[in-house]
Amino acid sequence: MASMVFSECSTSTTSRFFPMSLRKDAVVLLRRLSLPRHSCASKVPLSFRAFTVGASTPTSPPPSASVAIEACAKVIDGKYVAKQIRDEISSEVSRMKEAIRVVPGLAVILVGDRKDSATYVRNKKKACESVGINSLEVHLPEDSKEEDVLEFISGFNDDPSVHGILVQLPLPSHMNEQSILNAVTIEKDVDGFHPLNIGRLAMRGREPLFVPCTPKGCIELLHRYGIGIKGKRAVIIGRSNIVGMPAALLLQREDATISIVHSRTQNPEEITREADIIIAAVGQANMVRGTWIKPGAVIIDVGINPVEDSKSSRGYKLVGDVHYEEACKVASAITPVPGGVGPMTIAMLLSNTLTSAKRAHNFQ
Ligand SMILES: NC(=O)c1ccc[n+]([C@@H]2O[C@H](COP(=O)([O-])OP(=O)(O)OC[C@H]3O[C@@H](n4cnc5c(N)ncnc54)[C@H](OP(=O)(O)O)[C@@H]3O)[C@@H](O)[C@H]2O)c1
Repeated sequence: MASMVFSECSTSTTSRFFPMSLRKDAVVLLRRLSLPRHSCASKVPLSFRAFTVGASTPTSPPPSASVAIEACAKVIDGKYVAKQIRDEISSEVSRMKEAIRVVPGLAVILVGDRKDSATYVRNKKKACESVGINSLEVHLPEDSKEEDVLEFISGFNDDPSVHGILVQLPLPSHMNEQSILNAVTIEKDVDGFHPLNIGRLAMRGREPLFVPCTPKGCIELLHRYGIGIKGKRAVIIGRSNIVGMPAALLLQREDATISIVHSRTQNPEEITREADIIIAAVGQANMVRGTWIKPGAVIIDVGINPVEDSKSSRGYKLVGDVHYEEACKVASAITPVPGGVGPMTIAMLLSNTLTSAKRAHNFQ
């Protein structure tokens, strides 16, 4: 189960909109299909991307556009966008190597034997290889001392071939996570969790060196689908340091008016119903129901929750924090789970590593 949950979690330097010509194609396709407003849940293949209100089209046509029988909300295809981003990163890595003979490097430190963490690290390594980024891995035993981890971090901080350092969380309980994360130099903090990076993200007129990967991936999806943020009402459900809080800061930087819903919020449904854009990062399967959603809202579902499924050979399936079938009938666009935000996370990590290497070598 762990491997499935974590393989879903997977970044971009710039947001690019899609060529007008392809947008026109998508509009034509959409007209031809004349989609009725029904659930897109199980009937529409993830490869199908139909574009309705206010969204543009990925840079190339979907691999296999299928006729949507009951689609309503367009599917924001994170898997497809993440692949595009990895391709862009790959060509930038090659260009850099050719021009200045520098290959970006990412160091990952894993402590202990958690299977989920090991799978997550393996996926990051594979993703690095797929775009030509060097990856170094340190695997320390569960009973290592905090000083051992700090020593490796210090070595990587000083190593010019390493442009990004990632400490896989969670750490064993005898270690102080804060002091370990604080030890990563801000110039190599590709996870964007260093308080200085978060502080800069929160301040007007300041620029973080890195933005945390999952929230960055959420915003990138909005950009790549041409979904406007400025002036919109956005509700972020969840306020964790790694997803909800930085997602709220990012949307605010893009001139959305934000509300944050958390476990003590009295009227989450009412607040969420005001949103043009909903980012759900809670960790509660299907919590956001159709009645919580304003017609036409755009939904980014970060949640990854395993739920029992007797039809699956594994005995479970993954669902988001948003009730997908209900949401599809109300929203204008939605990310699926799996295949939405998950693949974007690793893509953003690669992007942050490339950005770091370019910055270190002043390579444009
Ligand atoms: N796709 C990806 O790449 C990716 C990456 C990271 C996480 N995730 C997934 O995203 C979800 C959230 O992760 P996380 O690390 O942010 O989780 P987290 O640290 O557990 O934070 C959950 C947040 O949800 C809030 N919350 C909990 N129950 C709630 C309720 N009933 N109503 C309203 N708010 C509630 C909590 O409020 P309080 O602050 O008041 O406790 C907290 O702020 C998980 O399913 C996780 O697996 C996915």
